[in-house]
Amino acid sequence: MSFPEYEIFPDGQAVAASACERILAAAEQAISDHGTFKIVLAGGTTPEACYRALADSDSDWVNWHVYIGDERCLPVDEPDRNSVMAARSLTSHVPIPSSQVYLIPAEQGAEPAAKAYADVVAGALPFDMVLLGMGEDGHTASLFPGHSHDESALTHAVHNAPKPPPDRVSLSAKSLANTRKLLMLITGTGKQEPLTRWRAGENLPIATINAENTLVMLDEAAWPE
Ligand code: 6PG
Repeated sequence: MSFPEYEIFPDGQAVAASACERILAAAEQAISDHGTFKIVLAGGTTPEACYRALADSDSDWVNWHVYIGDERCLPVDEPDRNSVMAARSLTSHVPIPSSQVYLIPAEQGAEPAAKAYADVVAGALPFDMVLLGMGEDGHTASLFPGHSHDESALTHAVHNAPKPPPDRVSLSAKSLANTRKLLMLITGTGKQEPLTRWRAGENLPIATINAENTLVMLDEAAWPE
């Protein structure tokens, strides 16, 4: 896939603020079109800033359905879990019914959690919006370079992740691409190298998410020019 449409912002806060506006607009459109807004949240620092901005905004929260793009196999209340970050920055501050926040039961171990969440994802597709970050090695969600998975699956159990913890659960590239809109939030100088490799056509995990309506939102520090 060629490099998607992109937009460069002065800094991470500006990326987070603009992503927040786009998410609110997508929610309004989805709820008026079909009554619900199904969004997949990413882990990472820029998404967290965006969630804090969302938590201070107005939306038709009762019609939001929130999914987690990847989860770390840690105890339920561990602060490093992506679901705990999402709760601390967004879902515990707005009136989304808790039954509409779909957590990955990663505390049960990667295999059973991936299996259970595949059923949840199957019932949710297509998503209205998917958010993704990118790691310094070109990973996204918990899809890491050099790992191979059954491409037809909706979720994957992940072991030996180079970013701790080693055991994780991830939505597959196929699930993450099955969305009406995809936003990739990428900030910081550490992202220049993988962005250069991605633009040169390297098949990094992030480059395998082939959603039609993708926008890469970058800060100036991340952009390698
Ligand atoms: C995780 C994340 C991961 C993250 C990237 C970017 O669970 O670790 O889902 O894929 O999005 O590593 O993170 P930053 O935005 O913090 O650089």
